[in-house]
Amino acid sequence: MEDSKSQKIKKIPLKHAYKLLGHGPTVLISSRDGVTDNLCSVSWIMPFDFDPPLIGAVIERTHKTFDNICKNKECIINIPVIDQLDIVKKMGTISGHKKDKTKGLSLQTGYHVSCKRLEGCCAWIEARFKKHKATDDFDLMIFEVLDVYAPKDTLTKKFTIDINKCPTIHHLGGMDFCTIKKI
Ligand SMILES: Cc1cc2nc3c(=O)[nH]c(=O)nc-3n(C[C@H](O)[C@H](O)[C@H](O)COP(=O)(O)O)c2cc1C
Repeated sequence: MEDSKSQKIKKIPLKHAYKLLGHGPTVLISSRDGVTDNLCSVSWIMPFDFDPPLIGAVIERTHKTFDNICKNKECIINIPVIDQLDIVKKMGTISGHKKDKTKGLSLQTGYHVSCKRLEGCCAWIEARFKKHKATDDFDLMIFEVLDVYAPKDTLTKKFTIDINKCPTIHHLGGMDFCTIKKI
């Protein structure tokens, strides 16, 4: 498998999906309303199980992403690297309700879903929307993993992100971010 830049893409066994999120990276969630693609920055996301592989994310119901996922029942969880910080800031401050913020981004259609993944990320998780748990204060969306893949050289042999080579983005709050290193 290759992407548009002839970058080799490797499929990852689904049971390893949790390893891509366990260290708390901020992700970009791709969704689609049938016509327009959308990306949204999300920090409140974590693995819930590995068999079946489940992921939970708190996504506000006012977001275009929430509407898209309720409608289309699918998304791609893109795991960006520090070079993509400006994209994370932009996708996290403009709503797809107001404009198509994905113009100019390099997007590729997923293998199992109609929404598009962002090129340049260190891994991608395609997921089906499984359940919505609404409380008075927040909306928890639960996803079942359909596919996991990554560029050939971004993961270790244990299917963890090679963090020193591909530093992920971690949200400190507001517009402050950090990255991490393996010990
Ligand atoms: C770094 C960062 C992390 C964010 N994390 C979340 C999150 O976990 N959940 C959420 O609902 N919104 C989060 N947001 C806010 C949304 O990304 C933002 O409101 C976005 O514009 C919604 O886009 P949409 O309406 O196109 O879906 C975050 C924003 C930033 C900048």
